[in-house]
Amino acid sequence: MNKFHIQTLGCQMNERDSETLAGMLLELGYIQSDNKEEADVAIINTCSVRDNADKRFFGMLGQLKRLKNKNKNFIACVCGCMMQQQHIVDEVKQKYPWVDIIFGTHNIHKFPELLENVISQRERQIDIWDDGGDIIENLPADRLYEHKAFVNIMFGCNNFCTYCIVPYTRGRERSRSPEAIVKEVESLVASGTKEITLLGQNVNSYKGEGDVNFAKLITMLNEVEGLERIRFMTSHPKDLSDELIEAFATCDKLSNYFHLPVQSGNNEILKKMNRHYTKEAYLELINKLRGVRKDIGISTDIIVGFPGETEEQFEDTLNLVKEVQFDSAFTFIYSVRKGTPAEKYTDQVPEEVKHERFNRLVEAVNESSAKNNEKFVGRIVQVLVDDFSKNNREMLTGRSSENKIVNFKGNSDLIGKIVEVKVISSNTFSLTGELV
Ligand code: 5AD
Ligand code: SF4
Repeated sequence: MNKFHIQTLGCQMNERDSETLAGMLLELGYIQSDNKEEADVAIINTCSVRDNADKRFFGMLGQLKRLKNKNKNFIACVCGCMMQQQHIVDEVKQKYPWVDIIFGTHNIHKFPELLENVISQRERQIDIWDDGGDIIENLPADRLYEHKAFVNIMFGCNNFCTYCIVPYTRGRERSRSPEAIVKEVESLVASGTKEITLLGQNVNSYKGEGDVNFAKLITMLNEVEGLERIRFMTSHPKDLSDELIEAFATCDKLSNYFHLPVQSGNNEILKKMNRHYTKEAYLELINKLRGVRKDIGISTDIIVGFPGETEEQFEDTLNLVKEVQFDSAFTFIYSVRKGTPAEKYTDQVPEEVKHERFNRLVEAVNESSAKNNEKFVGRIVQVLVDDFSKNNREMLTGRSSENKIVNFKGNSDLIGKIVEVKVISSNTFSLTGELV
């Protein structure tokens, strides 16, 4: 039996794409291996959102060369967002001539054909499409978990935030039909899925046929019998509708959690980022969400050191973090992306200033995370159990509706179930509790 190994960098979209690649390989008769040393086919699914992901890719690629030398039938494949950038494809072609297959984000369904070509012709295959075209339904998928699943609802992004490479690597927005989404969710639930996470770069601009918008889609999915939790990401504040906020009042399956990237707390920077909202409008959204669900968990994404960011402008971001009291935040140091508008901005912030601001931001975020977590002590939370804890095999770990990591003692038959846990202590990143 031939074995395959997939390494995935980046976001949930990539993780979901890797599940499709694995599904196609299983259909071809391959088996999955955790150990790349024994793989006959290895795939690196790349991310281009920041420079450190680029660097990790080239490190991983170097390691594959050894496998190629060891096994003459070994097939090395690279795909994902980085391959949608011409300069990266040129570099792979020139410096890594032993890579057998290069494909992009728009044609993963072509992978079996490319693989077949390499095997029969022993010739390198390069196939990159400029844009997505029609959405291909019913591709196989080897899901990472049974109890929770990612469900794509749309692909691409139309927003062109000036720092971001995604619109260039994932193309324009295309939404799946509501029927296809509901059907997929029903079949997941039939095979044991309790929680779905709807995926899109900007789910708030979902537009299915017959005027089904995102709020309506949620309402439809809330009706799926046997489904217990609905999550979604990512939202754009400019497109967050009152109708969606209202859905948090009416749809009991919507988890008590909202990820709402703010990126900066300064209006001038937000404008230069092309975000189309102000700090005030963002705060208003947070108020509305907390008005509908008092204890809703809120997380965000923040970039420090965007070109031209002054100390005062950065302090506006710090103050916003203190004001909102996020449950958690993904914090990023601005990374120049080739081909984006912000690459041309001449007032790049020096590295050491970016790092110093980053550290202050992380400190503020951690303080608010710890404070919010403390409030959970004594409360009972509903935990969807994922697995044993990595650090302590006696403990189980899962997520509460608010997306808090909760660790507690229990045995393996609870994995995949939703259980009630009483929180007995908290720290910055997790809660500890006991089964009730
Ligand atoms: N530099 C730093 N962070 C970035 N992000 C996107 N592009 C960049 C960049 N060039 C961050 C944003 C986005 C998250 C997924 O990644 O905060 O919301
Ligand atoms: Fe990038 Fe902005 Fe689109 Fe998000 S909304 S993927 S940050 S361009």
